[in-house]
Amino acid sequence: MADVERDYFLRAVERRDGSRLRIKQHCAGDVGCVVWDAALVLAKYLETSSFYRGSSHVFSGKNVVELGSGTGVVGLMASTLGANVILTDLEELQDLLNINIKDNKHLVTGSIQAKVLKWGETVKDLPSEPDYILVADCIYYEQSLEPLLKTIKDISGNKTAIILCYEERTMGNNPKIESQFFELLQIDFEIEEVPLEQQDEEYRSEDIHVLHIKRRGHH
Ligand SMILES: C[S@@+](CC[C@H](N)C(=O)[O-])C[C@H]1O[C@@H](n2cnc3c(N)ncnc32)[C@H](O)[C@@H]1O
Repeated sequence: MADVERDYFLRAVERRDGSRLRIKQHCAGDVGCVVWDAALVLAKYLETSSFYRGSSHVFSGKNVVELGSGTGVVGLMASTLGANVILTDLEELQDLLNINIKDNKHLVTGSIQAKVLKWGETVKDLPSEPDYILVADCIYYEQSLEPLLKTIKDISGNKTAIILCYEERTMGNNPKIESQFFELLQIDFEIEEVPLEQQDEEYRSEDIHVLHIKRRGHH
């Protein structure tokens, strides 16, 4: 990848302790990838008090898989909270993910690595039934809905907690895509929305929804 440095622009994401995740975004070619607002809302939600038991974060020592990681900001945040994280995305995002892992290594208290995972395809090399699956802003095109659901079903177990964040979009066929996704999802999963007041005081928005999702019939 020649001239790669020139094609990145940097986004700093401040953690509660004042340290900063430094996230490179890719703005060249077809696979432009930025930190989407839903990713910021989810990353900052992970730092809120509902994830702490005393001084210990519930992610500490847990296996976390992120789907459609993009720049990796959500999974990186999880890894700074003690989780053992696998970021996943398409092949063409792996370089960006690895750069962001490298640039933020000093903040990681769990562990973090990136792997290729194309939704709907057979999953290799992932921890079976991770404790958490994180998904930010991945409900946006029709052909991906069923493959994304298949992947969520394939890798989740009865005890897996899925935390999904998405921005409600009113343009074009987005409302249809979103309702189709949730119609299919609720067949096998229970969905609970996190009220705005339980989210980060600053990084929250009426049109960005944070959902806790579990397989039906298991608690
Ligand atoms: C809108 S971006 C969101 C990125 C990141 N989660 C965020 O919120 O900043 C959607 C991500 O899904 C990934 N993606 C799209 N289709 C995919 C597929 N079929 N399999 C795996 N990842 C896919 C894209 O490469 C992209 O990184």
